[in-house]
Amino acid sequence: MRLDAVTTILLCALSASGWRTFVVSHADGQDDTPALKTVLSSGNFSSNSTILFEKGVKYNIFTPLTFPVLNNVEVALMSYDSPSDGAKFQGFQLAIVGSSSFPGAWFTFSGGNNVTLRGSTDLEWGWVDGHGQAWWDAMQQTNRPHGWAFSKITNGVIRDMKLWKPIGWNFATSGSSNLHVFNNKIVAVSSTGSFPFNT
Ligand SMILES: *[C@@H]1O[C@H](CO)[C@@H](O)[C@H](O)[C@H]1NC(C)=O
Ligand SMILES: *[C@@H]1O[C@H](CO)[C@@H](O)[C@H](O)[C@H]1NC(C)=O
Ligand SMILES: *[C@@H]1O[C@H](CO)[C@@H](O)[C@H](O)[C@H]1NC(C)=O
Repeated sequence: MRLDAVTTILLCALSASGWRTFVVSHADGQDDTPALKTVLSSGNFSSNSTILFEKGVKYNIFTPLTFPVLNNVEVALMSYDSPSDGAKFQGFQLAIVGSSSFPGAWFTFSGGNNVTLRGSTDLEWGWVDGHGQAWWDAMQQTNRPHGWAFSKITNGVIRDMKLWKPIGWNFATSGSSNLHVFNNKIVAVSSTGSFPFNT
């Protein structure tokens, strides 16, 4: 009886807190960025929310993605296939052309408080494939897109992220403070003779 009472109180507390989870949608062969941008711009998941790239889905982020200012938000990348199975997450646009229209980073956080960027602890899942090999082979270093700009965040966490062949520049944390960054993997190993320009 006592346990039941405690459980009931806990459940009420959880629903009262109004935590929301948004599962990012995906359409095969298409860029998933525009639909996600529309949802993000509604502000519905800018606070007290989880933005989930769910396991088992290969998302296409062909164009740069900017998150609005976030408060108490976790961005969780559980989704992508392991790079070894040949069916990779298309992290970046495929064109190997440096463009001055690249906003700098492919994924930009605009600021906020208590923001977590978290990958999967399962090594088979959650890889972000930057398709860097083609960029390295072409020795293309002009206006390369960078990876993740985790900017202007107070109290942030970057954990368990797994990057596969990033084009160059992985994480930047300009203007952020009190960050806890741990257990992230960056695999930038060239499978040709070309040099994996990376930092
Ligand atoms: C945001 O939430 C409002 C109110 O629940 C809803 O009407 C609207 O459709 C939502 N917008 C998006 C883009 O999800
Ligand atoms: C988010 O949650 C906190 C703590 O539960 C609450 O104080 C705050 O009002 C919530 N914010 C929004 C926008 O719902
Ligand atoms: C901070 O965000 C996490 C999710 O990443 C959430 O579980 C926690 O309740 C938030 N903290 C506060 C003080 O709202």
